[in-house]
Amino acid sequence: MIEQEMDFENRIVSPDYSFTQDDAELSLRPKNLSEYIGQDKVKENLKIYITAALQRNESLDHVLLYGPPGLGKTTLAGIVAKEMGVNLRVTSGPAIEKQGDLVAILTSLQEGDVLFIDEIHRLPRNVEEILYPAMEDFSLDIIIGKGPSARSIRLDVPHFTLVGATTRSGQLTAPLRDRFGVLLRLDLYTPEQLAEIVIRSAGILGIGIEKDGALEIASRSRGTPRIANRLLKRVRDIAQVEFDGVITEQTARAALSRFEIDELGLDDFDRKMLSTIITNYGGGPVGLDTLAAAIGEEAVTIEDVYEPYLMQIGFLTRTARGRCVTKLAYDHLGFNFGNDTKQQSMF
Ligand code: ADE
Repeated sequence: MIEQEMDFENRIVSPDYSFTQDDAELSLRPKNLSEYIGQDKVKENLKIYITAALQRNESLDHVLLYGPPGLGKTTLAGIVAKEMGVNLRVTSGPAIEKQGDLVAILTSLQEGDVLFIDEIHRLPRNVEEILYPAMEDFSLDIIIGKGPSARSIRLDVPHFTLVGATTRSGQLTAPLRDRFGVLLRLDLYTPEQLAEIVIRSAGILGIGIEKDGALEIASRSRGTPRIANRLLKRVRDIAQVEFDGVITEQTARAALSRFEIDELGLDDFDRKMLSTIITNYGGGPVGLDTLAAAIGEEAVTIEDVYEPYLMQIGFLTRTARGRCVTKLAYDHLGFNFGNDTKQQSMF
């Protein structure tokens, strides 16, 4: 059998936003903490730190946000800037290639601004070193010239708040991680929270939706608002063309099964990964790199994108010896637990 090529970039349940981010998606982002649904602990802490900094007339301490992609790290950086009444500058680790790129950004900031660096673990090492004195003392040590005439000058930069985002805080170097005063972990959302987000987004986009329709989309969105909002728009298309335009539980179900997303939000790729572990590796344990090679996906993508949700729903465990598929996943995929035979259909 020829395996169909999996196209991660076009996966409808991909939490990656770079290829789909549009104005509509931006308009769905909550602008302040009171509009932001879920992540209650993060919101509570941020509210206290922001209020305290405002009362002291100081800039907010540097904040590190970590957790799986698509949970609202960029949105939160925007909210921090708005609540502090300052500008937001957005960049990302891979976009800053040279020390000079970061120096240019830092020296153009205004007092109190929020600088958001997405994927901060991907900053080049020599660029990261520029950040240390900037975060700590709001100064830059720059070497001018080369050879014997080279000299170091110290430049002051405005007090700013660095909001860094990463998929895993463990990927950060210790000196960088230690310079953040506030570390906040974002968790996957519950279906109920996602349903609230879907209803809010539908209101902004003028889409008619019933509560059960929202819950149906929410429970297939892998705990991720970015996926929930994307599915909402695709389900709307089908509701509009094939039904009467309103998203009900029935129209949502029909649309989502058309996308081959099952009741738990798993798509072809998840099913392929789990069944590969079952059929090729006896259900595990299998090492991450071996698994990545077997399914033709990068190990970091498996770790950051697929695994958090599969672990949250109890389908996959990470052990010291590798990844294991649980009985729940065997049952869901129709395999007999403990071997790779398929369960007999009763019909
Ligand atoms: N849209 C995307 N994420 C959201 C959130 N956490 N709350 C409200 N609306 C959202």
